[in-house]
Amino acid sequence: MIYVLKIYFLGGIWHMKFGHFDDQTREYVIETPKTPYPWINYLGSEAFFGLISNTAGGYCFYKDARLRRITRYRYNNVPIDMGGRYFYINDNGTVWNPGWSPVKTELDAYECRHGMGYTIITGKKNDLKAQVTFFVPNGYDGEVQQVVLTNEGSSAKTFKLFSFAEWCLWDAQDDCTNFQRNFSTGRVEVDGSVIYHKTEYRDRRNHYAFYSVNDAIDGYDTDRDSFIGLYNGFNNPEAVLAGKATDSFADGWSPIASHYKEITLAAGESKTLIFVLGYVEMPVDQKFEADGKTINKVKAKAMIEKFDTPEKVAAGLADLKASWDKLLGILNVTTPDDKVDRMVNIWNQYQCMVTFNLSRSASYFESGIGRGMGFRDSNQDILGFVHQIPDRAKERIIDIASTQFPDGGCYHQYQPLTKKGNADIGGDFSDDPLWLILSVSAYIKETGDWSILDEMVPYDNDMSVAQTMLEHLKVSFYHIVNNLGPHGLPLAMRADWNDCINLSCYSDTPGESFQTYTNPKFKAEGGYSKVAESVMVATLFTYTGPNYVAILKHLGKDDEAAAAQAEIDKMKKNIMESAWDGDWFLRAYDANGEKMGSKECEEGQIFIEPQGFAIMSDVGKEQGADKKTLAAIDERLNTEFGLVLNNPAFTKYYIQYGEISTYPGGYKENAGIFTHNNAWIICAAAYAGEGDQAFKYYSEIAPAFTEDTSDIHKTEPYVYGQMIGGKDAGSDIGRTGKNFGQGKNSWLTGTAAWNMVAISQYILGVQPDFDGLKIDPSIPSSWDGFKITRKYRGAEYAVTIKNPDHVCKGIKSVTVDGNAIEGNILPVFDGGVHNVEVVMG
Ligand code: GLC
Ligand code: GLC
Repeated sequence: MIYVLKIYFLGGIWHMKFGHFDDQTREYVIETPKTPYPWINYLGSEAFFGLISNTAGGYCFYKDARLRRITRYRYNNVPIDMGGRYFYINDNGTVWNPGWSPVKTELDAYECRHGMGYTIITGKKNDLKAQVTFFVPNGYDGEVQQVVLTNEGSSAKTFKLFSFAEWCLWDAQDDCTNFQRNFSTGRVEVDGSVIYHKTEYRDRRNHYAFYSVNDAIDGYDTDRDSFIGLYNGFNNPEAVLAGKATDSFADGWSPIASHYKEITLAAGESKTLIFVLGYVEMPVDQKFEADGKTINKVKAKAMIEKFDTPEKVAAGLADLKASWDKLLGILNVTTPDDKVDRMVNIWNQYQCMVTFNLSRSASYFESGIGRGMGFRDSNQDILGFVHQIPDRAKERIIDIASTQFPDGGCYHQYQPLTKKGNADIGGDFSDDPLWLILSVSAYIKETGDWSILDEMVPYDNDMSVAQTMLEHLKVSFYHIVNNLGPHGLPLAMRADWNDCINLSCYSDTPGESFQTYTNPKFKAEGGYSKVAESVMVATLFTYTGPNYVAILKHLGKDDEAAAAQAEIDKMKKNIMESAWDGDWFLRAYDANGEKMGSKECEEGQIFIEPQGFAIMSDVGKEQGADKKTLAAIDERLNTEFGLVLNNPAFTKYYIQYGEISTYPGGYKENAGIFTHNNAWIICAAAYAGEGDQAFKYYSEIAPAFTEDTSDIHKTEPYVYGQMIGGKDAGSDIGRTGKNFGQGKNSWLTGTAAWNMVAISQYILGVQPDFDGLKIDPSIPSSWDGFKITRKYRGAEYAVTIKNPDHVCKGIKSVTVDGNAIEGNILPVFDGGVHNVEVVMG
């Protein structure tokens, strides 16, 4: 088939797109299966989750991608993206999949629509069309797959359909390592058209999975080798090629689930089949039927019945869409740029919900095995979704704060299943406590619910030493103040926001984790160098600290507020005295007391991290530090694909810096374009009134803009990735620029939340504040204006912003329901719709 690729000329080079945005349906429509990387979507938002690529690759899990993996996936496989929910069609010897892979028979037509919590894949071959809709209904522990087969030809057709899912033996880590045991434990049961996976169910597990179809079948397979053949692959399963299932029964080895059905369709006729891949937990005393052996299937049957007709499926899908209408109906903008609109109104908010649900656990770059919830990561995620689901944000904040220690230090990660701090990784990451101040402030600014400060929150999950949330904020703030180094700047500890600047590590032995290994000489000093200092944490402190002061003032604690303010002022002074390099801010002092991120350094002379927060907290503003810093950033860090993290890149290993200098130049934390902290600069430029500069940086990395260079960018054009290859990419092999602009690590990144903040709060200027909704745009001067609707504290604001003088920032007048108001904080109302007109100038 000839796939429609959009080839066009941009900036002197031919480029390619592989699909398009459908803003009406809130879908990204992929027009070829051969995307430059698998482009995925997420199904589910409560307990049952699925990852699904545009060729139906991916897997499912229940709550925890490591401990309750339901289907198997092969990371880093050759070819890429193997393992998924596959439908095979054998049409008189022509074998194909609706999603093209894994058979890869050329299709006559192909389309994949990734929508909000659902994916629709359509393939067509020899007049037979197969459309599969995948989704996890609200409140349901299973994935529904509706297959609609249509004979678009002029004569009858008889063909064979096979479904396929491969069971993971629950613990994903064990499943891919412990073969001496696992090849002997697999167990299944078959009952009519339902295949049950029950490995370990008899013994110690109280859960099973099933794969059903709402119609009679002509056969099945549950044993992988019988279905595929030991020396065949997903691309040519023996049973599919033979046109008949073998009715195999798994007993050990690798259990799978495949339904087989022969179907005849008259010309123009359609048939709909509904498959459910479900998960069931059972009370211990009800696990079996009377024989004590057979699975009690009552719950599974009830689940299957819930979606056994196309009408029920349509209703489930409509319900899912309605819940997204609600989530996306809180903030809506109409700007002169439809790319901005589709990011703000649809995709950025969608990605924020996914990062809320998944944190950093399971993507095509995160294996679902490695990481729990990060203290800093999850606090920052709150900033992106608090307006959508404030109640769940509150619950999440309390969970996170519960893993703090009484002195304000924190576990760096916690496990979502137990909600306990992860002792393997431990604490002493210098930035962690500050993010809690930011997330709690964001919650209050959104909701006006000050009662969160009175919640009793444990330390280290021990309720007997619980303190109020306000006290948690206090120990967070003073954890910084109480841990200063020789220049009065915060100690860097094991790492700050940048996990790869490890100033107490000095590792020269393979296998030592840069995040957890501490050189013995610093261990003796209490776990980290008492000399190394982080300027980034200093500026994060001056940025977040004023929120703590404002909270204290609101509570009438003026003395405490003044004391905290004095610490902030002192820190600002210390920064200007010891961390201002003349044109930008230093990055750190290393354990030898040497400057990092200075003109004086041979490499790594300027770093992105401290600059934005310094500008946003007015450090050195009276000396013009903000404008100088912005100019330096533009000159040294900016590229057409975003701002690199540091410059020049490190070309050798600096044992005193740690992991950062282990990456070849241009990747990850070594001069990659780390999109997360690009947002801090976008915010800072907007704050400083440089709306054109802010928007330039925004559009360099925002996915809807990268769509135009999908052939270079490679990852999904509808979501942010953590990293884009920087201008130094390839320099290590003498081919500088080789992977410049190439995206990696898509989906699960703090980039989602921070860019949501950057565009909605700093550029478009809709800023929830303690006392109301503040409007303070900093936009491209070419814009005539824009519109916002925002639901906030029970009322709805319809805001029209006019920019007759074509300024970037500044407000001449604000009227609310026809009446002029002082300042730019909109009053809080008791419900209703309120018309606001803002004139810039
Ligand atoms: C990753 C981590 C985040 C860290 C960043 C920089 O995105 O999830 O916690 O701040 O890398 O190292
Ligand atoms: C590695 C990654 C870094 C990430 C960290 C978290 O160091 O390079 O990006 O933040 O692991 O564990």
